Amino acid sequence: MQIVLVLDFGGQYARLIARRIRECKVYSEIVPNDIGIEEIKKRKPDGLILSGGPASVYIDNAPVMDQTILDLGIPVLGICYGMQLMAKMLGGNVAQTSKSEYGKTSLSHDKSSPLFYDTPLEQTAWMSHQDLVDRLPPGFKMTAKTATSPIAAMADQKRRLYGTQFHPEVVHTPHGMRMLKNFLYDICDCSPTWTMVSIIEKEVAKVIEQVGDANIICGLSGGVDSATAAVLVHKAVGDKLTCIFVDHGLLRKNEAKQVEEAFRKDFHIDLVCTNAKDRFLKKLKGVTDPEKKRKIIGGEFIHVFEEEASKIKGVRFLVQGTLYPDVIESGASKEAAKIKTHHNVGALPVDMNFELIEPLRLLFKDEVREVAAELGLPEEIVWRQPFPGPGLAIRIIGEVTEERLVVLREADTIVEEELRRSGLYQEIWQSFAILPAIRTVGVMGDQRTYSYPIVIRAVKSQDAMTADWLRLPFDVLETMSSRIINEVNGVNRVVYDISSKPPSTIEWE
Ligand code: XMP
Repeated sequence: MQIVLVLDFGGQYARLIARRIRECKVYSEIVPNDIGIEEIKKRKPDGLILSGGPASVYIDNAPVMDQTILDLGIPVLGICYGMQLMAKMLGGNVAQTSKSEYGKTSLSHDKSSPLFYDTPLEQTAWMSHQDLVDRLPPGFKMTAKTATSPIAAMADQKRRLYGTQFHPEVVHTPHGMRMLKNFLYDICDCSPTWTMVSIIEKEVAKVIEQVGDANIICGLSGGVDSATAAVLVHKAVGDKLTCIFVDHGLLRKNEAKQVEEAFRKDFHIDLVCTNAKDRFLKKLKGVTDPEKKRKIIGGEFIHVFEEEASKIKGVRFLVQGTLYPDVIESGASKEAAKIKTHHNVGALPVDMNFELIEPLRLLFKDEVREVAAELGLPEEIVWRQPFPGPGLAIRIIGEVTEERLVVLREADTIVEEELRRSGLYQEIWQSFAILPAIRTVGVMGDQRTYSYPIVIRAVKSQDAMTADWLRLPFDVLETMSSRIINEVNGVNRVVYDISSKPPSTIEWE
């Protein structure tokens, strides 16, 4: 399979480049900037991209790379920091300027570089830099400039080494995708063959080879990741796969039913559904501390899962819906790893004595949704928003009781229905209701009421690390509010959460 590797000189920059390459239907992976030449030779990439990054090539401990990689004859595109580093390594010069160039800039190219093929001579490019290349390395030619950067792009066509000071991967460079395609298809000689169909075929073949005759289990959460992983593995091994769905009673309305229907009726997948609601509620009685709730739910979840798994004979493999960002993050800083464990409550422990099958471990979330749609999963599952493992328990602020779960579930359903009706649902990262277990005063007829308030939360986000509250239209909010107060017993007030992350978080606990 053709592959283009992105050398990571700054996390977010590298991620965006990898995603864009994949959008061009060429497979791409992110590798650390200090990857050695032997590893590169082993992986035989068709092209390399050196990402941008926040550092300056002159500071102490600036990220570097093994320069001999540039001698392998593999086409290289250095972007921003990547171009500056390449220039410095190959004998050019990078200058620190007092003038930074930030935002949309007017760029002109001289037609000589295949990178700019089929793009206008004068065009807009997005810049974000203070340093710039002021002397070209031997063998290179300047191929584009802006008012501030006399060398906004450079090329050594003989060695197939290219650099751009601007960022072709961002949407503010309108012809950037064309440039990336030029690099991939013309310079690296890649073809656009990495499609969802090809991913499914490849993963199915891999699973068949990996499992032999053994039985496989998969824990379903109701979310798109585990559902997609399960359907994909089922395509490979049929009834050797048993799915286990632990209903902890903390799910949203109809969630358990939807999963059951999709899996049993549509896909004929062997599914064990355990209704463990009473067990979880009993354990949660009197508990108000959020971390304690998480621990109890996480622990109980594993118990129930293990009980069910032990009833199935000859199981050697466990399917998990691990995604590419989890893979990148677990190799990243300790801080990132810590955040991850905190959020991983409800996941299964790795010491369960099963070998793992992770058919989605190279995919981003939106790619998983595409695979899910290709596999024929129902729309509600394909577009399901992320939902925390401990479920509604961390959306009831206070003790979790049956009565509060009913109130929250009804209110949450109205929030979802109204957002779907308004056509906004697919643009939202997460939207839900929260029930703080306090009573507020209201009036109904001549009587005072003391009932629960419901908080509505709706956020935009790329990856849940940061999030912004949604500017929902007032009429949508109004409909939600009046429906919740009229239709849900025990609620007399609705408020909308207008805080962003940071400093708030998406969930309330
Ligand atoms: P916060 O609230 O930290 O949430 O902004 C970020 C993302 O993580 C989800 N989340 C959880 N997921 N177990 C999970 O599986 C948890 O305990 C948990 N807490 C938060 C949250 O829904 C959001 O997508």
